[in-house]
Amino acid sequence: MPLENYSPASIADVRRLRDALEQQGKKLVFTNGCFDLLHAGHVRYLEQARALGDAMVVALNSDASVRALKGPDRPLNNENDRAEVLAALRAVDAVVVFAEDRATRLIETIRPHVYAKGGDYTVDSLNAEERAALENVGAEIRILPLVPGRSTTGTINKMLSEKSGQRLRIAVLGSGEGSNLRAIISSVQNGRLDADIVAVISDQAESRFLELSREAGLPSHFVDPGSNPRKLGDAAQKEIFEHLERARVDVVVLAGFMRILKEPLITAYSGRIVNVHPSLLPKHKGANAPQLAIEAGDTESGCTVHLVTAEIDAGLTLAQARVPVLPGDTPEKLHARIKAEEHKLLPQVLAKWCQRGLPVRGAVAS
Ligand code: GAR
Repeated sequence: MPLENYSPASIADVRRLRDALEQQGKKLVFTNGCFDLLHAGHVRYLEQARALGDAMVVALNSDASVRALKGPDRPLNNENDRAEVLAALRAVDAVVVFAEDRATRLIETIRPHVYAKGGDYTVDSLNAEERAALENVGAEIRILPLVPGRSTTGTINKMLSEKSGQRLRIAVLGSGEGSNLRAIISSVQNGRLDADIVAVISDQAESRFLELSREAGLPSHFVDPGSNPRKLGDAAQKEIFEHLERARVDVVVLAGFMRILKEPLITAYSGRIVNVHPSLLPKHKGANAPQLAIEAGDTESGCTVHLVTAEIDAGLTLAQARVPVLPGDTPEKLHARIKAEEHKLLPQVLAKWCQRGLPVRGAVAS
């Protein structure tokens, strides 16, 4: 006998399940997502989410909404197949498919007791409309940690990189003049750096950095940093992460990017984010390093290329170059001398990375 095609649950079925649970003093958990290519990260996340209540419904993005969110090559599996695979998991009691951009209507109709979301979100970066609906129906919002090293995009990227050979895919992030970006572009153009610049991202819409990138015809993105003039908001952190994932970036280069990157990027790109800093680290971390060197009476300064971790200017040093601090130096004069070294050192470090074929796309993705 041929097997029946799987059909997802209706919203009315799920609402009935929720009401029955409530009568018994039990809780329905709700989560939503694309779940295109299931991996252990999904399974662990769903197990944790299910443990927050007594039954769980997964609202699955329809094929059209996955395309809108992830690009024209996704989903890999159609919505009925994705629903069928999900429904077979121990943690999942029902699957509904939804076509809207937001899960608001589902939340309002189903009225879940608990809402679970993966740790690439914070309560503040949840969509405002969905959050209002959740608060309205009295759902408890729970953000669960990401499982490091597991992602659909990471898996796809790994397969693609294994198929297509290893040309390093670089993203450059900056906020200012863009002289280091110019040095990287020249090194790619003259063949000293065997890599592709696949994304250029800035938090400054009018920067020379972004202008240079556009002049060079590179994929250029302005990301609104949010209202705090010093910090990068949660929504911006997430948007940058999504640009990197979409462009299948191997290495993220911070070339004068003056805000601090946080999750989900730091974990997902761990060991693959480099920064250039205008001092001989560990001396003079943070902003205005050339000025700090002059004020400290240093006779020598320079630049450091280092790996980026959650702690500012503290990751592993990859290379340094030294310059003298001269009598009568201003911060500007010293900085110009340092930058001349940065323009050589940063492309050299990246070129070495390319020659060793490291790091591999997807190797540390979350
Ligand atoms: C560079 O000197 C870089 O080392 C520094 O910003 C400058 C950007 O110049 N970065 C930092 O101070 C990070 N803490 P650019 O926009 O001309 O490349």
